[in-house]
Amino acid sequence: MPRDEGLALYAAAVEAAGLGLPLLEIGSYCGRSTLLLADAARAAGTVCVTVDHHRGSEEQQPGQEYADPELADPDHPGRMDTLPFLRRTLASAGLEEHVVAVVGASPVAARAFGGNGGGRFGLVFVDGGHTEEHAQADYASWVPSLAPGGLLAIHDVFPDPADGGQAPYRVWTRALASGAFAEVARQRSLRVLRRVALGH
Ligand SMILES: C[S@@+](CC[C@H](N)C(=O)[O-])C[C@H]1O[C@@H](n2cnc3c(N)ncnc32)[C@H](O)[C@@H]1O
Repeated sequence: MPRDEGLALYAAAVEAAGLGLPLLEIGSYCGRSTLLLADAARAAGTVCVTVDHHRGSEEQQPGQEYADPELADPDHPGRMDTLPFLRRTLASAGLEEHVVAVVGASPVAARAFGGNGGGRFGLVFVDGGHTEEHAQADYASWVPSLAPGGLLAIHDVFPDPADGGQAPYRVWTRALASGAFAEVARQRSLRVLRRVALGH
């Protein structure tokens, strides 16, 4: 995530944390964006919940565009494991105690931890799998749990297919078409929307 997008995400997290509710991230990876949400949560006396199976997205697998050999799981050839990197990132920043790391597939975690409604989160940041299936499942699984007035942030929104995959873009259009959200900020491929009505 480039610096300007990170700053926009941080601003959204600081505002959302003012609701006093946990902030949710889908897609921890090695913790770069988690740090931003965690610091905002720390300042507001709440926590960041970050969800990832830590096996990488399709485009991060060995041989794919965003593969990183350093993230290979030493015990399971051909698989990656970003969990140790997330832990190190949070520990180095002194933010471990402000983060609840959930290791598992996003829709499964949502079912287990009470996604699908309830208004538990002040912010939902969607940055997990970028296939249509995963991005839409993340939206359907977690966005019902975004509190009234809370913020929905979506990363990698590219209106022009020449710039990137379309799944996050379609999640963004879905949110706007629902009538439950109004856009409040955009920075490069980051979009921030406020929940202005129930629904999703
Ligand atoms: C683009 S990276 C997240 C980047 C991170 N937010 C940052 O800015 O540093 C996407 C992450 O989503 C995770 N992921 C992909 N599909 C998932 C799923 N269905 N459930 C849980 N995590 C998933 C991958 O393991 C990967 O770590």
